[in-house]
Amino acid sequence: MPSLKEKFAAKVPDMRDRVKRILKEHGETKISDVTISQAYGGMRGVKCMVTETSALDPNSGIRFRGYTIPELQEKLPRAAGGEEPLPEGLFHLLLTGELPTADEVAEITAAWRQEKELPGHVKACLDALPQDTHPMSQFSVGIVALQRDSIFVKRYREGMSKMDYWEPTFDDAMVLLGRLPLLAAYIYRRSYKNGEHLAGTADADWAGNLAGMLGIDRPQFQELMRLYMTIHADHEGGNVSAHTTHLVGSALSDVYLSLAAGMNGLAGPLHGLANQEVIRWILNMKQEIGGTPSKDQAADYVWKTLKEGRVVPGFGHGVLRVTDPRYMAQQKFADKHLPDDENYKIVRMLYEVVPNILLEQGKAKNPWPNVDAHSGCLLVHYGLVEYDFYTVLFGVSRAMGVLASLVWDRALGLPLERPKSVTTEWMEQQVSG
Ligand SMILES: CC(C)(COP(=O)(O)OP(=O)(O)OC[C@H]1O[C@@H](n2cnc3c(N)ncnc32)[C@H](O)[C@@H]1OP(=O)(O)O)[C@@H](O)C(=O)NCCC(=O)NCCS
Repeated sequence: MPSLKEKFAAKVPDMRDRVKRILKEHGETKISDVTISQAYGGMRGVKCMVTETSALDPNSGIRFRGYTIPELQEKLPRAAGGEEPLPEGLFHLLLTGELPTADEVAEITAAWRQEKELPGHVKACLDALPQDTHPMSQFSVGIVALQRDSIFVKRYREGMSKMDYWEPTFDDAMVLLGRLPLLAAYIYRRSYKNGEHLAGTADADWAGNLAGMLGIDRPQFQELMRLYMTIHADHEGGNVSAHTTHLVGSALSDVYLSLAAGMNGLAGPLHGLANQEVIRWILNMKQEIGGTPSKDQAADYVWKTLKEGRVVPGFGHGVLRVTDPRYMAQQKFADKHLPDDENYKIVRMLYEVVPNILLEQGKAKNPWPNVDAHSGCLLVHYGLVEYDFYTVLFGVSRAMGVLASLVWDRALGLPLERPKSVTTEWMEQQVSG
C-alpha cells in the first residue's frame, strides 16, 4: 500500500500539468468582474483564488471533493462499532481527492498518534499565561511555540528546490495535526481542570483520543468528536481562517505561522467564535426569562437582540442561502442521541423562530442557521460546558482543511498573494463624468 505521502506525490505532476495548461491556453479568460460594492463590501462573490479541497454552493452547502456530508457519513471508514466518519479519512480525501480504505485511514491515525506529548517549552509557554487567557489566544500561542520544530524552516535554510517545497510542508502538517489535539486538551485541562492532565487512550483514533484527553471518555462523545472534526474541517478557500492561512502561507511562512494566523481569524465572533456566542446567548436568554423560553418569549428576545444593534449568533452566512448542512448533520445526531435535551429543544425552537424574524427585519441575506447555531448544545450535553473553549475544537478540525490546501499551494507553486488596493479618491475618479 503506498503511503499517504507517496499517494500525494503521484498526483502532483498531473495537477501541475493541468494548472500549467490552463494558464497557458486560457490565462487571459475573465472569470469575475469586480464592482465598487464588492471592493468595499468584503469581496463577496469575487472569484480570485483557487482551492482544491472543497467547494461551497450557496444553495446546497459544502462539498468536500464533491461529496456532501451525508455521503461522507456513508462512505468514509468508521471506528469499530461507530457510525460517524473518522476525520482521518476526510483528511485523506481532502489531500488526494480519493476516498480512503480502512487501512489508509489506519496509517494516518498511526502517524498522528505518534505524537504523544507536547514539547516541554510549549507547555512552559502556556503555563506562563494567566489561567484565564482566552483558550483561542492560548491555542495561537501554542501553535507558534510549536514552530521551533518546523522541518520546512530547516530545509529552506539548508537550500531546497522550489519543486520540493510541498514535501517538508506535508511533513510539518502531519506533525502539527498529530499535536493539535494534545495542545487543545492541554489548554482545556489547564484552564478548567486545575492542570490535571490526562494521558490519551493508547488504541483510540485521533478524535476519540481527544475526547479521552479532555476527560469525557464516553463512546457517544467520541462519536460526536468524530462528526464535529469532520464537518468543521473545510469550507472552501474564501472564509477568514482558510483565506488567512493561505495568504500568510503565500509568503512561504511555514504551516505553524500560517495556521496560527488563520486561527486568530477563526477567533473572531463573526467567524468561529460564534459557536461560543450562541450558547452564551441561549444561556443568557434562559437566565433573563427565568427558565426555558416559550416561542413568544424567544421571539421577544431575538427582537431585543436586534434592537440593541447586535447580531443573532449562529444565523446568517457570507455565502450560504439555505440551512447549513453542517447544522443538519448535528441535528440528526441530536435527534438520535439526545432528543430530550433541554438546550437542544431550544435550538430546534429557535430554528422555527429566528429565520422569520430576520426575514421580517429584512437585512440579513440569509436568515437560516449555520454550523455554530448547533454545536454548543451538543457539547454542553456531554459536560463540556466551558464555552470559551469551543472555538479551539473548531480550530483543531479546520486545521485539516487549511493544511491540506497549503500542501497543494506548495505543490502547485502558487506565488505570493498580492491583490491591488485603491483609494476612495481613485474610486471617485472612475465614476466622475
Ligand atoms: C455570518 C455573517 C457575518 C455574514 O455576514 P454578511 O455576509 O455581511 O451578511 P449579510 O450580507 O446577510 O448582512 C447584511 C446585513 O444583515 C445583518 N445580519 C446578517 N446576519 C445577521 C444576524 N444573524 N443577526 C442580525 N443581523 C444579521 C448584517 O449584520 C448586515 O447588517 P448591516 O447592513 O447593518 O451591516 C452574518 O450573517 C452574521 O453576523 N451572523 C451571526 C454571526 C455568526 O453566526 N457567524 C458564524 C458564521 S458561520
